[in-house]
Amino acid sequence: MHSVASISNKIQPPYLEVQGNCSLKGEIKVSGAKNSALVLMAASLLTEESLKIQNIPQLTDIKVMSDLLRAAGVVVTSKNNEIDISTKNLRKANLPYELVHALRASFVCIGPLLARLGEVNIPLPGGCRIGARPIDEHIKGLKALGANVTIEDGLVSAKIVNSRKKLQGSYIRFNCKSVGATETILMAATLAEGETVLENAAQEPEIQDLAEMLNKMGANVKGAGSSRITIKGVNKLNGTIHTVIPDRIEAGTFLIAAAMTRSSLKVSPVIPNHLESLIEKLKECGCTLKINASSIEIIAGKSLKSVDITTNPFPGFPTDLQAPFMALMTTANGTSKITEKVFENRMQHVAELQRMGGDIQLKGSTAVIEGIPYLSGTYLSAGDLRASAAMIIASLSAQGTSIIQGLEHLDRGYEQIEKKLNQVGGNITRKNVNFIEKDNLEKSNREVISQQQEVA
Ligand code: EPZ
Repeated sequence: MHSVASISNKIQPPYLEVQGNCSLKGEIKVSGAKNSALVLMAASLLTEESLKIQNIPQLTDIKVMSDLLRAAGVVVTSKNNEIDISTKNLRKANLPYELVHALRASFVCIGPLLARLGEVNIPLPGGCRIGARPIDEHIKGLKALGANVTIEDGLVSAKIVNSRKKLQGSYIRFNCKSVGATETILMAATLAEGETVLENAAQEPEIQDLAEMLNKMGANVKGAGSSRITIKGVNKLNGTIHTVIPDRIEAGTFLIAAAMTRSSLKVSPVIPNHLESLIEKLKECGCTLKINASSIEIIAGKSLKSVDITTNPFPGFPTDLQAPFMALMTTANGTSKITEKVFENRMQHVAELQRMGGDIQLKGSTAVIEGIPYLSGTYLSAGDLRASAAMIIASLSAQGTSIIQGLEHLDRGYEQIEKKLNQVGGNITRKNVNFIEKDNLEKSNREVISQQQEVA
């Protein structure tokens, strides 16, 4: 029988073992954007013809979305980074709660399913660790398009009540910039009768990518990427082939990893104007960035200056890069103030960075970070997708070895991240079997740090 102490001393697999003090060099490949691929898969529900989507990242979120579509009778076949979708046999189905809850983003399916079938029941997605994630803007928009929407016992039921079973174009002003709500209503409006105008629409590149595919399918969408989108409804949409844009958040994560390890790295493919706010902040820190047509080369300064960031909807600084950027600021020179304005609880990485020695004071959603010379490796536990990326970045540069648990979050949004980073100089091993003793890890890290101090 193990004592409690001995059990709590064991770090159970799966986990990543990350050697610190590494520097990166070479070119790292960016996958297709998760937050575009997911909504493009939902948009396939708008047509009964086949759709091929290329450059799809192989992630657990994509797998969950595929299973959700299959639950509604959709045929989804994926091969490497390509997905073929046929919704000929789409049927009225209650999408399974456990899948909708596992992938909140699937809630956007309510738009296309309602427009296509005339009625849909979908579970409330519920919140997650970064926030309550309400869906009131989605509901308000669907009602404005003429749907009857009720929420009872955790189930959202939407129904088109007019005899023609068609949504009616309308003028809709969102109370807040919501990526998901903009996507839900944009998709539903493509098959509505008449014109829909969306005011205060979200402007993320993933919405532009969605509009581009919808227009290839025969929709009439104008203004995607601006805060005012106009959609002229059409009778039906056709199949098409579409390639997902590169993942700006993954690309940004790699640029920040290069800055934190004081490395030089080329990141491609990217669409540079999707990363303008990050590029500006990395330059402000003292990094040199060479912006090419579809790649960015970063040369990190030897010592970086602390800078302040506040997250905002696009084109502001992306909330999905807030945690990785905070890791970077823990070893910059000076004081940095980071304010999270998009989600109400997206600071869980603070505690883990503090355990690595980060000097961070947190007040609500504002963190004040005093830069220190280096972080120390230790055992870490990720609570959400972008926090896990922040821990990898911090561990790559820390003194000593780090162990990161919570890989189920990481694998939702980063395709083969350890393989990609190891190809440019990282030393990350995914352990699926043996546990590791915390005492041994701490002992070996103390030795590493004292050796570094002797050398310094
Ligand atoms: C999308 O989530 C992304 N997910 C998120 O990425 C991203 O962080 C977020 O947009 C902001 O850019 C996908 O695209 C799959 P929102 P979404 O609706 O659509 C409030 C990641 O790490 N709001 O733009 O759910 C909401 O509470 C994930 O890849 C309402 O008040 O985000 C939040 O404060 C995390 N009512 C703000 O808007 C609503 O009806 C932004 O949420 C909807 C949202």
